[in-house]
Formats: sequence, C-alpha cells, structure tokens
Amino acid sequence: MEDPTMVGTLAAQAEMIWPLERPLLESLGLPERGTVLDLCCGTGEVAGRIARAWPALTVLGIDLFEGHLGVARRAHAGVRNLSFAAGDARATGLPAGSQGAVLLRHVLHALPWPEAVLTEAQRVLRPGGLLYVLAEDYQGLFFDAEDAEHARLFVDVRPALLARGTDLFHGRTAFRQVRAAGFQDVRVHSLVLDPGTVERGTFARMLRYWRDGYDAFLAESLGVPPERVRARFDGLIAAAEDPERYVGWWIPVVAGRAPGPSHR
Ligand SMILES: C[S@@+](CC[C@H](N)C(=O)[O-])C[C@H]1O[C@@H](n2cnc3c(N)ncnc32)[C@H](O)[C@@H]1O
Repeated sequence: MEDPTMVGTLAAQAEMIWPLERPLLESLGLPERGTVLDLCCGTGEVAGRIARAWPALTVLGIDLFEGHLGVARRAHAGVRNLSFAAGDARATGLPAGSQGAVLLRHVLHALPWPEAVLTEAQRVLRPGGLLYVLAEDYQGLFFDAEDAEHARLFVDVRPALLARGTDLFHGRTAFRQVRAAGFQDVRVHSLVLDPGTVERGTFARMLRYWRDGYDAFLAESLGVPPERVRARFDGLIAAAEDPERYVGWWIPVVAGRAPGPSHR
C-alpha cells in the first residue's frame, strides 16, 4: 500500500518543479524519439508529464515499490507511450546502451549506494545519452521563519540521517559523484522554487506532507517528542504562507553525457 503523504509530496513537488524543469529538459536536448528511462520513478509524476510533452518518445518508469507503481499506472492509464515496471535501480535488466536518457529525481540522497545506481544508469545509456539527476540538498532550503530554530530543522537532523544512509547535503556532492562515475560534460543547473516561481500554497502543502510523513521518524532521529518536530514544521509552513516572508528551495540538477560520441 502506498504512503499517502509520499504520494502527496511527489505530486506537490512535480506541480512546482515541472514548469521550470520542462524548459531545462528541452535545453539539455532530451531526445525527441527513442527511449527514456525514469529510474526510481515513484508515482510517475514526471514520467507522465514527459510522455505527454514528448509524444514520439517511449518512456519507461522503473521503481522498486509496487505501491507507487500502482498509483502511476492508475494515473496514466491510456498514455500510449508510457509504461511502468518493477525493478531495482542497481540492476534493471535492461539491455546495455538501450536508453537515450536516464532520469534520477529526488532519490540519490536517500540511497546508501548512489554510485551503484549511476553505474547502472551509465550501462543502459547509449553513448552520448543524457543523464539527468535532480538532486536534493536540504541546506538549500531557505525559510525566513519567525523562530530561527525552526529553519535549522534539516541541518540539525542531518548527522542522524547520515548514519542511516540518507545524506541531506547530497546535492552538493552529486556533481563529484556523476563525474567520478565517468559521465562527460557534467554541469549543474539550478532550479529555484520561491514565491516568484511557485504558489505559496503548494509549497506549504508539500511541507504539510513532509510533516505528516516524517514527524515520528525525525523525532526519533533527534531524540525529541514528535510534537517538537511538528512545531518546527509548522513554523516553516507559517513562513511559506506569510506573504511578507521569503521561502526558497535551491534544487541542483546535475546533467551529463554517457561516454562516447554524442547522438543528440
Ligand atoms: C522520493 S521518491 C521519488 C520519485 C520520483 N523520482 C519523483 O521524482 O517523483 C523515491 C523513489 O525511489 C524508489 N526507490 C528507492 N530505492 C529504489 C531502488 N533500489 N530501485 C528502484 N526504486 C527505488 C522508491 O520506491 C520511491 O518511489
């Protein structure tokens, strides 16, 4: 069974990011035809948007979790150039060199072995194929919260999560990881979500899903009662909803090319 807070989080994030992301994918030369793999596709929010926007592409989403795949299949039933399959991002079973592009969104920070996933992405990409990593770095979340302690939530919890294999500061290391994996022409493109680019209400909705989905886990990690964590999230939500206060989220997208000649 899928977790409704994660389903809601992914929907709110795609709603905010896609208007910035589509022109970036266009400028990066997402192929017009052939195959694109959304690795760790979740509920298919962006695989579905790509399939609709690039109708001559064949888009495949792979995820480990059947609950998310079920949501994806229901949401995108009837989209002819889109399919979903269960699989492990470290060993997809897809033929080598079969993909024109591989997307990895909102996921590498949460995996203890991002290198293994990047190796698999490179294996399935054709030479010159596009790697697109939308990374997360929680120090890139800015909140003009009334209580400064609320704004430090993710920095405070990072050491405990690092011990569990999740790096909340992963975004800044993704450039190095993608280069170390052998990709070429690696560049970081910045997406900035803030009141100038997204609806405050959607930002706040995402934070509510984070609060409701992660309060117990973060509380345990910090060794505090869940109410303390919820109060800190509530401070962030209040800032997001206050038209006088700034909230922002810097999202690094690391793009590179599989070794070999480019076939853009
Ligand atoms: C935060 S969600 C991101 C979903 C999607 N990429 C998006 O941007 O909307 C992370 C997803 O990675 C999936 N995942 C985690 N480990 C995986 C693995 N080893 N292989 C495939 N999927 C995995 C989870 O099931 C989850 O759906």
